[in-house]
Amino acid sequence: MDQVNVGVIGFGTVGSGTVEILLKNRDIISDRVGSEIIVKKIADLDIVRDRGIALASDVLTTDPSEIIRDPSIDIVVELIGGLTAAKDFILKAMQAGKHVVTANKALLAECGEEIYSAAGKYGVSLAYEASVGGGIPVIRALREGLSANRIHTIMGILNGTSNYILTEMSKNALPYKKAVEEAIRFGYAEDPPTLDVNGTDAAHKLAILVSILFGVPVPFRSIYREGIECLTPDDIRFASEFGYCIKLLAIFRNLGDAIEARVHPAMVPLDHIMANVNGVYNAIYLEGDFVGPNLYYGYGAGKKPTGSSVVADLMHLSRQIRCGVSTLIPPLGYSRPGLMNIAVQPIEELQTSYYFRFSAKDTPGVLSKISGILGENGISIYSVIQKGRDMVGSVPVVMLTHEAKESSVIKALAHMKHLEVLTDKTITIRVEGSK
Ligand code: HSE
Repeated sequence: MDQVNVGVIGFGTVGSGTVEILLKNRDIISDRVGSEIIVKKIADLDIVRDRGIALASDVLTTDPSEIIRDPSIDIVVELIGGLTAAKDFILKAMQAGKHVVTANKALLAECGEEIYSAAGKYGVSLAYEASVGGGIPVIRALREGLSANRIHTIMGILNGTSNYILTEMSKNALPYKKAVEEAIRFGYAEDPPTLDVNGTDAAHKLAILVSILFGVPVPFRSIYREGIECLTPDDIRFASEFGYCIKLLAIFRNLGDAIEARVHPAMVPLDHIMANVNGVYNAIYLEGDFVGPNLYYGYGAGKKPTGSSVVADLMHLSRQIRCGVSTLIPPLGYSRPGLMNIAVQPIEELQTSYYFRFSAKDTPGVLSKISGILGENGISIYSVIQKGRDMVGSVPVVMLTHEAKESSVIKALAHMKHLEVLTDKTITIRVEGSK
């Protein structure tokens, strides 16, 4: 049987999941592909820790260049994450004529142009299923299964860690910090988890998905992003009193002359399609002009699901190698470069409903001061909850508004900074989906 040799750079969570699948499912993998996929070398700084996988003594190395320089290695799998070193390894591997598989969403979102054009220049394939949605094959869906469509909407829960944290805060009343610690312990979170909780990881993934839609890398910095760090169990409780839950959503909409591309906590009605996506699960809902709605759901993080995506890429590339094809599908799925200049609508232009939690002194006239400023800025209140005097110092005043423009909200909140009856930062959450 033909043999495809693979070098893996990075033997952490996803690296060990990948190698485990290749070994345990070796029979069906080779039967399906028609070639044996052999892990020839694995490079990692730590080659001492026991990953519970039996490997021949010459497989592990601390030197990635042993992989890149080895002419018998056909495919390099980059699983170290981060930007600088990972980019260097990928570019060198491509230059050496090797196909590349990566799970590195940050690198693709921030330096995609360089990586995609290097793949073209050196005539190699780039596969990155594991970069978005863990074990959900959404990249394959967009590049292949849905490629006949113009996709006009994507709504996703794309970060397993933050979804896990919000679920634990909501279902088990776990404090934010404790929920973060658990996510790290289960291997869902990046280390440190900053990019998971501040919306950057989900924005990286959204950037990759949107780039595939248009065949050109979307400028990552133009994607608005906001995280879950300021949310408290109180917000989750108030949201549920209004009939909503809180999710970190990644949203894309094609507006015709511009696109919406944003990541932020959003209140969604309890019967919304995203409301029951809990724990480390991810979900991606999308709509195409001919296919209509599609929904994908599965584990968005973790060694086995993410390893499953890496191995699927290895199988795809091994089939190509077996058939003597260097690139069947270009990185962004366009054989001619997409020509569209992607203009991302500034967040100030957004029109939606809002949740506000004001921390206010419990004195007469507070509500009228707040509603006065909202009214002056054209923001109309839909519903108010004000909790009683059981709270020391200040009380939460919680509101849902009718639709308003984000620029008006920004102005109103700036104005309220001067109100001495407000004792803390106001929490704002956009509402997605009507009830
Ligand atoms: N830290 C990521 C998440 C892992 O929580 O979704 C997969 O990219």
